[in-house]
Amino acid sequence: MSAPITFSDVSTTPSSALDALLASSLSVRFPRLDTVDAIEITRRVYGIDGTATRFSTEKDDTFRIDAGDGSRYVLKISNPGETAEELDLQVAAMRHVAVVAPGLPVPRVLRGIDGQFVLPLGSSTHPHRTARLYSYLEGVPLDALHPSARNRYEIGEVLAQLRLAMAGFRHPHEHRVLAWDVKHLLSLTGLQAHIADPLHRSLIEQAFARFAAIEPALRCCPTQVVHNDFNRSNIVANPGGANFVSGIIDFGDTVHTAVAIDVATALMNQFPLDFDADGPHDLFVEARDLLRGYLAHAQLSDDELLLIPHLAMARVAARALLTSWRAKLFPENEAYILRFTRPGWEHLRWFMQRDHDTVSNALLEFVRRPTHPASRDPSMNAAPTSQPPVLNEAVDISKPDDSLRGDMPNGFNPSAISHLDAATQQHVARRVRLLSPSYRLFYAEPVKIVRGEKVYLYDDKGNDYLDAYNNVVCVGHANPRIVDAVTRQLSTLCTHTRYMQEPILDYAEDLLSTFSTSIREGQMMFTCTGSEANDLAMRIAMHYTGNTGVIVTSEAYHGNSHLTSSFSPSLGRRALLGPYVRTVPAPDSYRMTPSEIGQRMAEQVALQIEDIRRHGGGLAAFIADSFFSSDGVFAHPTDVLAPVAEVVRRAGGLFIADEVQSGFGRSGTHMWGHERHGVVPDIVTLGKPMGNGYPVAGLVVRPDVVASFGQDMRYFNTFGGNSVAVAAAQATLDVLRDEHVLDNAQRVGSIMLEGLNGLAKKYECIGDVRGTGLYFGVEMVHDRAKKDTDIATALKVVNGLRQRRVLISATGPDASVLKIRPPLVFAAKDADRLLTELDTVLAAL
Ligand SMILES: Cc1ncc(COP(=O)(O)O)c(C=O)c1O
Repeated sequence: MSAPITFSDVSTTPSSALDALLASSLSVRFPRLDTVDAIEITRRVYGIDGTATRFSTEKDDTFRIDAGDGSRYVLKISNPGETAEELDLQVAAMRHVAVVAPGLPVPRVLRGIDGQFVLPLGSSTHPHRTARLYSYLEGVPLDALHPSARNRYEIGEVLAQLRLAMAGFRHPHEHRVLAWDVKHLLSLTGLQAHIADPLHRSLIEQAFARFAAIEPALRCCPTQVVHNDFNRSNIVANPGGANFVSGIIDFGDTVHTAVAIDVATALMNQFPLDFDADGPHDLFVEARDLLRGYLAHAQLSDDELLLIPHLAMARVAARALLTSWRAKLFPENEAYILRFTRPGWEHLRWFMQRDHDTVSNALLEFVRRPTHPASRDPSMNAAPTSQPPVLNEAVDISKPDDSLRGDMPNGFNPSAISHLDAATQQHVARRVRLLSPSYRLFYAEPVKIVRGEKVYLYDDKGNDYLDAYNNVVCVGHANPRIVDAVTRQLSTLCTHTRYMQEPILDYAEDLLSTFSTSIREGQMMFTCTGSEANDLAMRIAMHYTGNTGVIVTSEAYHGNSHLTSSFSPSLGRRALLGPYVRTVPAPDSYRMTPSEIGQRMAEQVALQIEDIRRHGGGLAAFIADSFFSSDGVFAHPTDVLAPVAEVVRRAGGLFIADEVQSGFGRSGTHMWGHERHGVVPDIVTLGKPMGNGYPVAGLVVRPDVVASFGQDMRYFNTFGGNSVAVAAAQATLDVLRDEHVLDNAQRVGSIMLEGLNGLAKKYECIGDVRGTGLYFGVEMVHDRAKKDTDIATALKVVNGLRQRRVLISATGPDASVLKIRPPLVFAAKDADRLLTELDTVLAAL
């Protein structure tokens, strides 16, 4: 075997930066292992007998191992230039993805006999080399296929999911300096000497100049650890399978860098290989399919989208430089090393034939949707006589309904502010600068409020707004009894649950006594938010059952934590559901025969339990909000949950009643929403109205369900159930009871229901009115016969009411359902005001 050749053997004198970049596994020459070695290593290190087949690879020796029992593996023997830290980074990244996104097709890293993931061969012939064994993913490399547009879309989806999965990954070596990280392109200038053709050299020089111009902007882009090499050889596909992408392999270039670089790398790998820069073909046509799939799951800012075409160009240039240099180092492997380099010259020519701005816009213009004709129609924006406009540019109805699913219904668009007054514009701009883009404001013209009292909110000019939206302040804004209880407690004592305090026990006793079934024998746990309550409930359910399967309705929302968001499909298609999460249709009483809904839902749940089992899992819990609020408010029929609970229990799962919306008397008839369905839950979760605005939430659980969880692990929540939280909760419960608030909800609720039904008779656009107590859904439709959702009208009504100082919002899968849920102390006169204003807005449509 010849001696290792290092970079400096063949290059012109490199700069020290270049030296550092290239003196690595890219330049080390080493003796190759053969299949006999691979068989021997697999047996010795992993205890597996099998045959070995070599894969074509550049940097290391890789083999498929077919074991005697039919199982298959991939054995990777590292390049001697790869450091222990680099290998650990790769393994740790793959293991991280396997844990946080087990549904992604990333090979599992297997331990050797001695329990290690990376095993030094300890051989004198192959010093500094290590073995790794991965699970084998069936399929063929993408280079062997002609993917369709749909296939490319799916590749984009997988890349986005991988990015999201890696977002939380950290590693001491993630900031390593890697030649294949395009941000270092300008350090590769010394490699131009390896490019013989003067035309090609000139293209590279132009590429350097273009990259230098965008490099400062690149430094401002979001970064994280990314795969950084989504190329055709690293994607394994299974064209006949349920998912086109069956494997993402080779994390060898994983690094912390700009997310835009990762996307640009994936896009340039979709550039056609038989490309003629002088022909009519647009270089990005295929790449855009991938981008569409990506954007269905993860976001890119406009700034990133403007940079990505340039970064794709830079990646083509980097590949040309590195492969031309490496082809000289390893002439025996030249054909493989240069397999993508030759078409790359045509790609570079395409870029250089276009000016900077044209290249910048190769993607952004495509991503921006054309304006919906309706929003150009002046009548859409026309103000009803003597009224401010009800809908304007800030409500983007140009998006097809499906694309709105990840957005918040009734969300304000902060980039469309020209119609707002100067003070509002300033506030919005400040907010955009200071708060993360995850935050949304309500309404086309956001409301600035400074004070609340009873069912009214007040702006800084003293105008009152009728609050028909905020269910948290169930006994009214700034209720004096709650304010008094909280301030007295805060000036006496505020500490956590690890000291003996009588009030927490008094409250637990009091609250438990409000349940009418055996769950009143349960035990309480305190949290600060509904999300935490559901998170904890699900952990308990998983611990108790030993399973991870979760079933929810198709637009359910149960929280914002990692676990709860994994079973909150209403967060949109970009939010990933957990691998054992299944959805069932909501009990849509508007479109289904009410008497059949319970049975149908039980059947659907049974089917999903079966599906979880087929995938090797088991059911931990079914969780539902008995109003199905985010599904579109389906408070009736009330015989739905009992048959479902029966199916769930038969499968060994638990029934969790999420009472965050439906609890504390919202229905008017019952303190707890699940009681309307005649079902006894195993866990009940509480939140929102529990402290009338003071953060307190929690759960009630059957003692036998929580017993082993409590023994196996302690639970502490610094603020959950603190002295002030308990005082707020106790005062809220007292007011609810002392002031007969449920009766009020029932009485005023009937006035509201009657009034809304009256409006439905008058206005064709109202397809359905539903609700109970003081929680209503009013569904807007284009056509009553077709029952097709009308999101634009719903948003016009919501914004029209806002202009008339009545606050409601929208909900449901298409945000076409008016959501009305005022504080429970809403009076008859408040109902009259709401109904009158709603009538006016509907008349002006
Ligand atoms: C049904 C339901 N469960 C849980 C939650 C989460 O509660 P929180 O926002 O307090 O975390 C919500 C919040 O809207 C909810 O509507």
